[in-house]
Amino acid sequence: MHFIPETLDNYVVAHSEDEPKLLQQLTRETYQKILQPRMLSGHYQGRVLSIISKLVNPKNVLEIGTYTGYSALCLVEGMQTSGQLHTIDINEELVDFQRKYFDKSAYGNQIIQHLGNALEIIPKLDKTFDLIFIDADKENYPNYFKVIIDKLKPGGIILSDNVLWSGKVLEDLKPDDMDTKALIEYNKLLKDDPRIETVILPIRDGLTISRKRNS
Ligand SMILES: C[S@@+](CC[C@H](N)C(=O)[O-])C[C@H]1O[C@@H](n2cnc3c(N)ncnc32)[C@H](O)[C@@H]1O
Repeated sequence: MHFIPETLDNYVVAHSEDEPKLLQQLTRETYQKILQPRMLSGHYQGRVLSIISKLVNPKNVLEIGTYTGYSALCLVEGMQTSGQLHTIDINEELVDFQRKYFDKSAYGNQIIQHLGNALEIIPKLDKTFDLIFIDADKENYPNYFKVIIDKLKPGGIILSDNVLWSGKVLEDLKPDDMDTKALIEYNKLLKDDPRIETVILPIRDGLTISRKRNS
Protein backbone atom coordinates (compact mmCIF):
# COMPACT_ATOMS: atom_id res chain seq x y z
CA MET A 1 0.00 0.00 0.00
CA HIS A 2 1.25 3.51 -0.85
CA PHE A 3 0.25 6.17 1.67
CA ILE A 4 1.38 8.87 -0.77
CA PRO A 5 0.83 8.86 -4.58
CA GLU A 6 3.08 6.32 -6.29
CA THR A 7 4.79 8.97 -8.45
CA LEU A 8 5.73 10.96 -5.36
CA ASP A 9 6.84 7.74 -3.65
CA ASN A 10 9.13 7.03 -6.62
CA TYR A 11 10.54 10.56 -6.37
CA VAL A 12 11.23 10.05 -2.64
CA VAL A 13 13.13 6.83 -3.34
CA ALA A 14 15.05 8.35 -6.29
CA HIS A 15 16.22 11.23 -4.09
CA SER A 16 17.20 9.10 -1.12
CA GLU A 17 20.42 7.16 -0.59
CA ASP A 18 21.15 4.36 -3.08
CA GLU A 19 20.78 0.75 -1.97
CA PRO A 20 24.17 -0.88 -1.21
CA LYS A 21 25.23 -3.58 -3.71
CA LEU A 22 25.25 -6.37 -1.10
CA LEU A 23 21.63 -5.62 -0.20
CA GLN A 24 20.65 -5.63 -3.89
CA GLN A 25 22.22 -9.08 -4.14
CA LEU A 26 20.48 -10.26 -0.94
CA THR A 27 17.15 -9.03 -2.30
CA ARG A 28 17.63 -10.86 -5.62
CA GLU A 29 18.50 -14.13 -3.90
CA THR A 30 15.62 -13.78 -1.43
CA TYR A 31 13.17 -13.36 -4.34
CA GLN A 32 14.70 -16.38 -6.14
CA LYS A 33 14.85 -18.82 -3.23
CA ILE A 34 12.82 -17.82 -0.17
CA LEU A 35 9.08 -17.83 0.49
CA GLN A 36 7.30 -14.51 1.06
CA PRO A 37 10.09 -12.24 -0.23
CA ARG A 38 7.92 -9.16 0.25
CA MET A 39 8.65 -9.47 3.97
CA LEU A 40 12.10 -7.91 3.60
CA SER A 41 12.40 -4.22 4.42
CA GLY A 42 13.73 -3.23 0.99
CA HIS A 43 15.59 -0.24 -0.42
CA TYR A 44 13.77 2.80 1.01
CA GLN A 45 12.83 1.46 4.43
CA GLY A 46 16.30 -0.04 4.71
CA ARG A 47 17.89 3.36 4.15
CA VAL A 48 15.55 4.84 6.78
CA LEU A 49 16.65 2.17 9.28
CA SER A 50 20.28 2.80 8.39
CA ILE A 51 20.11 6.56 8.89
CA ILE A 52 18.20 6.23 12.17
CA SER A 53 20.85 3.80 13.39
CA LYS A 54 23.58 6.26 12.35
CA LEU A 55 21.81 9.02 14.31
CA VAL A 56 21.45 6.83 17.41
CA ASN A 57 24.94 5.28 17.03
CA PRO A 58 23.95 2.35 19.28
CA LYS A 59 26.34 0.07 21.10
CA ASN A 60 23.95 -2.87 21.22
CA VAL A 61 21.03 -3.51 18.88
CA LEU A 62 18.24 -6.09 19.19
CA GLU A 63 16.18 -7.18 16.21
CA ILE A 64 13.03 -9.31 16.51
CA GLY A 65 12.40 -10.96 13.12
CA THR A 66 15.56 -11.45 11.03
CA TYR A 67 14.02 -13.08 7.93
CA THR A 68 16.89 -13.04 5.35
CA GLY A 69 18.93 -10.42 7.19
CA TYR A 70 18.14 -7.28 5.18
CA SER A 71 17.14 -4.99 8.06
CA ALA A 72 19.90 -6.36 10.33
CA LEU A 73 22.47 -5.31 7.72
CA CYS A 74 20.92 -1.82 7.60
CA LEU A 75 20.79 -1.37 11.39
CA VAL A 76 24.36 -2.55 11.87
CA GLU A 77 25.63 0.26 9.61
CA GLY A 78 25.18 2.80 12.41
CA MET A 79 26.39 0.63 15.27
CA GLN A 80 29.55 1.33 17.27
CA THR A 81 32.53 -0.81 16.26
CA SER A 82 32.59 -2.38 19.74
CA GLY A 83 28.87 -3.18 19.60
CA GLN A 84 26.79 -6.24 18.78
CA LEU A 85 23.54 -6.76 16.96
CA HIS A 86 21.45 -9.64 18.31
CA THR A 87 18.81 -10.83 15.87
CA ILE A 88 16.12 -13.44 16.52
CA ASP A 89 14.09 -15.57 14.13
CA ILE A 90 11.98 -18.66 14.66
CA ASN A 91 12.54 -20.13 11.17
CA GLU A 92 15.59 -22.40 11.14
CA GLU A 93 15.59 -22.66 7.32
CA LEU A 94 16.79 -19.04 7.15
CA VAL A 95 19.85 -19.34 9.40
CA ASP A 96 22.44 -20.31 6.74
CA PHE A 97 21.13 -17.74 4.27
CA GLN A 98 21.40 -14.99 6.91
CA ARG A 99 24.91 -16.03 7.94
CA LYS A 100 26.11 -16.08 4.33
CA TYR A 101 25.14 -12.42 3.90
CA PHE A 102 26.27 -11.34 7.36
CA ASP A 103 29.71 -12.78 6.60
CA LYS A 104 29.83 -11.08 3.20
CA SER A 105 29.33 -7.75 4.99
CA ALA A 106 31.93 -5.89 7.04
CA TYR A 107 29.98 -6.70 10.23
CA GLY A 108 29.80 -10.51 10.29
CA ASN A 109 31.51 -10.96 13.65
CA GLN A 110 29.29 -8.33 15.29
CA ILE A 111 26.01 -10.03 14.36
CA ILE A 112 24.72 -12.73 16.72
CA GLN A 113 21.89 -14.94 15.43
CA HIS A 114 19.35 -16.49 17.79
CA LEU A 115 17.04 -19.24 16.59
CA GLY A 116 13.70 -19.67 18.33
CA ASN A 117 10.68 -17.89 19.71
CA ALA A 118 11.66 -14.31 20.53
CA LEU A 119 9.37 -14.27 23.57
CA GLU A 120 11.39 -17.10 25.10
CA ILE A 121 14.83 -15.85 23.99
CA ILE A 122 14.62 -12.16 25.00
CA PRO A 123 14.22 -12.75 28.78
CA LYS A 124 17.40 -14.89 28.67
CA LEU A 125 19.52 -12.17 27.00
CA ASP A 126 21.73 -10.70 29.69
CA LYS A 127 22.17 -7.35 27.89
CA THR A 128 20.69 -3.91 27.54
CA PHE A 129 20.10 -2.28 24.17
CA ASP A 130 20.20 1.22 22.68
CA LEU A 131 18.12 0.34 19.63
CA ILE A 132 15.46 -2.35 19.20
CA PHE A 133 13.65 -3.17 15.95
CA ILE A 134 10.38 -5.12 16.18
CA ASP A 135 9.42 -6.80 12.91
CA ALA A 136 8.10 -10.31 13.70
CA ASP A 137 4.60 -11.79 14.22
CA LYS A 138 2.18 -8.89 14.70
CA GLU A 139 0.03 -10.76 17.22
CA ASN A 140 2.88 -10.58 19.73
CA TYR A 141 3.82 -6.90 19.39
CA PRO A 142 2.26 -5.96 22.78
CA ASN A 143 4.07 -8.93 24.36
CA TYR A 144 7.36 -7.91 22.76
CA PHE A 145 7.01 -4.45 24.24
CA LYS A 146 6.50 -5.94 27.70
CA VAL A 147 9.67 -8.07 27.51
CA ILE A 148 11.94 -5.45 25.94
CA ILE A 149 11.11 -2.26 27.80
CA ASP A 150 13.33 -3.10 30.78
CA LYS A 151 16.16 -4.10 28.44
CA LEU A 152 16.08 -0.73 26.66
CA LYS A 153 18.52 1.86 28.03
CA PRO A 154 17.22 5.33 29.00
CA GLY A 155 17.27 7.41 25.80
CA GLY A 156 17.11 4.18 23.77
CA ILE A 157 14.90 3.75 20.73
CA ILE A 158 12.30 1.15 19.72
CA LEU A 159 11.42 0.98 16.02
CA SER A 160 8.24 -0.97 15.23
CA ASP A 161 7.35 -1.94 11.67
CA ASN A 162 3.94 -2.43 10.02
CA VAL A 163 2.03 -0.46 12.63
CA LEU A 164 -0.52 0.85 10.08
CA TRP A 165 -1.05 -2.65 8.63
CA SER A 166 -2.13 -1.44 5.17
CA GLY A 167 -4.62 0.90 6.86
CA LYS A 168 -6.48 -1.98 8.56
CA VAL A 169 -6.01 -0.32 11.96
CA LEU A 170 -8.78 2.09 10.86
CA GLU A 171 -11.26 -0.47 9.54
CA ASP A 172 -13.98 -2.39 11.39
CA LEU A 173 -12.22 -5.24 13.16
CA LYS A 174 -13.05 -8.77 11.96
CA PRO A 175 -13.40 -11.09 15.00
CA ASP A 176 -10.74 -13.54 13.76
CA ASP A 177 -8.20 -10.87 12.72
CA MET A 178 -5.81 -11.20 15.64
CA ASP A 179 -2.97 -9.32 13.90
CA THR A 180 -4.96 -6.12 13.42
CA LYS A 181 -6.41 -6.42 16.92
CA ALA A 182 -2.88 -6.69 18.38
CA LEU A 183 -1.57 -3.77 16.33
CA ILE A 184 -4.45 -1.50 17.44
CA GLU A 185 -3.69 -2.49 21.03
CA TYR A 186 0.03 -1.97 20.46
CA ASN A 187 -0.32 1.52 18.97
CA LYS A 188 -2.44 2.56 21.98
CA LEU A 189 0.01 0.95 24.40
CA LEU A 190 2.92 2.94 22.96
CA LYS A 191 0.96 6.20 22.94
CA ASP A 192 -0.19 5.78 26.57
CA ASP A 193 2.96 4.41 28.23
CA PRO A 194 4.57 7.23 30.24
CA ARG A 195 8.03 5.61 30.03
CA ILE A 196 8.33 6.42 26.32
CA GLU A 197 7.57 9.15 23.80
CA THR A 198 6.28 7.96 20.46
CA VAL A 199 5.70 9.15 16.89
CA ILE A 200 4.34 7.10 14.00
CA LEU A 201 5.94 7.77 10.63
CA PRO A 202 3.55 7.00 7.73
CA ILE A 203 6.28 5.45 5.61
CA ARG A 204 5.78 2.14 3.88
CA ASP A 205 3.45 0.12 6.17
CA GLY A 206 3.94 2.50 9.10
CA LEU A 207 7.07 2.72 11.24
CA THR A 208 6.92 3.87 14.86
CA ILE A 209 9.81 5.54 16.66
CA SER A 210 9.55 5.35 20.45
CA ARG A 211 12.19 6.85 22.75
CA LYS A 212 12.59 5.76 26.35
CA ARG A 213 12.56 8.76 28.67
CA ASN A 214 15.59 9.34 30.88
CA SER A 215 13.63 9.06 34.11
C1 LIG B 1 8.61 -9.46 8.30
S1 LIG B 1 9.78 -10.73 8.53
C2 LIG B 1 11.20 -9.84 9.07
C3 LIG B 1 11.83 -9.02 7.96
C4 LIG B 1 13.19 -8.46 8.28
N1 LIG B 1 13.18 -7.70 9.51
C5 LIG B 1 13.63 -7.56 7.14
O1 LIG B 1 13.27 -6.38 7.15
O2 LIG B 1 14.28 -8.04 6.22
C6 LIG B 1 9.21 -11.49 10.02
C7 LIG B 1 10.10 -12.61 10.55
O3 LIG B 1 9.67 -12.87 11.90
C8 LIG B 1 9.87 -14.24 12.16
N2 LIG B 1 9.04 -14.62 13.32
C9 LIG B 1 7.71 -14.81 13.38
N3 LIG B 1 7.32 -15.13 14.62
C10 LIG B 1 8.43 -15.14 15.39
C11 LIG B 1 8.69 -15.39 16.76
N4 LIG B 1 7.70 -15.69 17.61
N5 LIG B 1 9.96 -15.31 17.21
C12 LIG B 1 10.98 -14.98 16.36
N6 LIG B 1 10.79 -14.72 15.04
C13 LIG B 1 9.55 -14.79 14.56
C14 LIG B 1 9.49 -14.93 10.85
O4 LIG B 1 10.08 -16.21 10.76
C15 LIG B 1 9.99 -13.93 9.80
O5 LIG B 1 11.25 -14.30 9.29
